[in-house]
Amino acid sequence: MIIAMTSEHQAGPMDRFTTRSCLPTDHPAILRAIQTWWADSRDETAARELSRLVPRLFCEHFGDTSLVIEGEDGELAGFLVGFFSQRVTDEAYIHFVGVAPWARGSGLAKQAYEWFFQTATANGRHTVRAITSPGNHGSIAFHQRMGFTIEPSEHTVEGSPTALDYDGPGEHRVRFVRDLTATPSATLR
Ligand SMILES: CC(C)(COP(=O)(O)OP(=O)(O)OC[C@H]1O[C@@H](n2cnc3c(N)ncnc32)[C@H](O)[C@@H]1OP(=O)(O)O)[C@@H](O)C(=O)NCCC(=O)NCCS
Repeated sequence: MIIAMTSEHQAGPMDRFTTRSCLPTDHPAILRAIQTWWADSRDETAARELSRLVPRLFCEHFGDTSLVIEGEDGELAGFLVGFFSQRVTDEAYIHFVGVAPWARGSGLAKQAYEWFFQTATANGRHTVRAITSPGNHGSIAFHQRMGFTIEPSEHTVEGSPTALDYDGPGEHRVRFVRDLTATPSATLR
């Protein structure tokens, strides 16, 4: 597998951050991040349930297609958990992305996605998929900005086409798809 890791220190506004592939030892910090960074983690039970969506196996087995971003003091500033599909061999999937509230709006998630797009392309993947909850308007806006389109559905929840019960009863999801051959991310402003 070809992994083109982003350079350690980017020029410009990113020079405060270091990016590297995800290690199993990153898992506790990622769990803490999910439990505090997400709006869905509004109470302890919800936070625990949400963090169960990223078990340690992602860091163990998908670490080369996942990324952590750290601030100058080594504090976790952001992360992306992704992998290449086994069944659909020209597709890749972004499972989770998060940026610390203090680091948002400086292009960290965009940088992580662009790294993933480049890595996926270098490994013969032409499509990237992702999902989110219909109530996560920030995630929906971000993914559309990153060139994803929403998969059509006959159902609409909170204004977005939504696959009802996609992840189980009541677990509705907005499904995103990004064609890596159609719009190179470099052409996104
Ligand atoms: C969504 C999230 C990852 C964005 O991280 P970020 O580092 O602030 O995003 P960036 O600065 O890289 O933004 C990239 C682009 O998306 C846009 N964008 C990001 N968040 C947005 C939001 N909430 N609403 C509208 N646009 C948004 C930015 O304006 C920017 O557009 P530009 O290129 O025109 O300037 C971050 O808000 C987050 O961690 N949210 C909580 C966790 C979550 O919901 N994750 C997604 C589901 S798994």
